[in-house]
Amino acid sequence: MKVAVLPGDGIGPEVTREAVKVLEALGLPGLTLFDGDVGGVAYERHGHPLPEETLTIAKACDAVLFGAVGDPDCDKLERSLRPEQAILGLRKELELFANLRPAKVFPGLEHLSPLKPDIARQIDIMIVRELTGDVYFGDKGERVASDGSREGWDMMSYSETEVRRIALVAFRTSRARGDKLRVTSVDKANVLETSQVWRDAVNEAAGPHPDIALSHMYVDNAAMQIITNPGAFGVILTGNLFGDILSDLASAAVGSIGLLPSASMGDRATEFGRFGLYEPIHGSAPDIAGQGKANPMATILSVAMMLRHSFGREDEALRIEAAVEKALADGIRGGDLDGTHGCEEIGAAVRERL
Ligand code: NAD
Ligand code: IPM
Ligand code: MN
Repeated sequence: MKVAVLPGDGIGPEVTREAVKVLEALGLPGLTLFDGDVGGVAYERHGHPLPEETLTIAKACDAVLFGAVGDPDCDKLERSLRPEQAILGLRKELELFANLRPAKVFPGLEHLSPLKPDIARQIDIMIVRELTGDVYFGDKGERVASDGSREGWDMMSYSETEVRRIALVAFRTSRARGDKLRVTSVDKANVLETSQVWRDAVNEAAGPHPDIALSHMYVDNAAMQIITNPGAFGVILTGNLFGDILSDLASAAVGSIGLLPSASMGDRATEFGRFGLYEPIHGSAPDIAGQGKANPMATILSVAMMLRHSFGREDEALRIEAAVEKALADGIRGGDLDGTHGCEEIGAAVRERL
């Protein structure tokens, strides 16, 4: 079981350290960790946010544990050298086209949400976000507009092939959840041609799955409904940009961005499951970096997803999830939840409850 550990920038190393300690505390035989540089740190040391050496390490492993990248000091660099290119490059190079972002309110923890408890209680959503296409990876550039001012442009596109494969992941995910087989595909087909192709291809992919209750929703409405009626959602299937935005929104509905993990998957099989990259959905949080205030729970829960999807260790995944849930129920709170517990303290509290 080979895991590449890529802590990155800001709070990335702080939260990754605690997540690795939780993984090691399980005492799994045959676990080997490999370290690599990514992000602004990698740019400083190697002149590139995703050095060749890091990519080689990631490819040689069964799974990647990723912290976060991003450094305000690097925002002046040309885009290809900015820290964010590390995560975008890894997703593209490793063909991780499916991003699973679960947003769930644990029973009894409704009060962490800013929503009314009766509404918060309903939140159990799996966002299935396409991760290697959309406006993220289209041609982009800057030109001179007709009035002589600067004009930025980014090409948005989705092919039917890209849409079909992510739709299948959503249907499979819905089946595995064992809920009411509800899949809501979120797009902006009333305005965007990209979304019209998306919607048609999702409908086509759903043909052989008549038991799936598929519906379509415009993204603006979805943003509203996730807050007002989250119980209406099971799996949300959406593109790269909308999925990015809606997952931060869903985390706020749960109570904190410091609680949401993610798994980025492709088709590559490993000896024990499927190759994947696991990371919290939050970023490097420069505003609190180096202060020991970051909540490591999202990264710890990402380790649970790694054990489940890449190593076939469902029991250990559930152990970690139960330990986090218990720590929250016992009043362990990160700075993201108006709490007083520091990053290391939270990591220790989770390990004690394993
Ligand atoms: P962010 O997620 O880093 O932070 C948003 C807010 O949430 C901040 O107030 C931060 O303090 C808080 N926060 C985030 N994670 C937290 C945690 N674990 N515990 C406590 N509080 C937490 O988003 P941002 O500020 O928009 O971006 C900062 C940098 O991170 C940017 O450079 C951005 O590009 C990058 N980013 C990287 C990733 C990634 O590596 N996958 C994801 C998102 C943003
Ligand atoms: C995320 C982040 C990334 C994204 C950035 C850092 C490129 O916001 O993982 O949610 O937009 O996908
Ligand atoms: Mn994001």
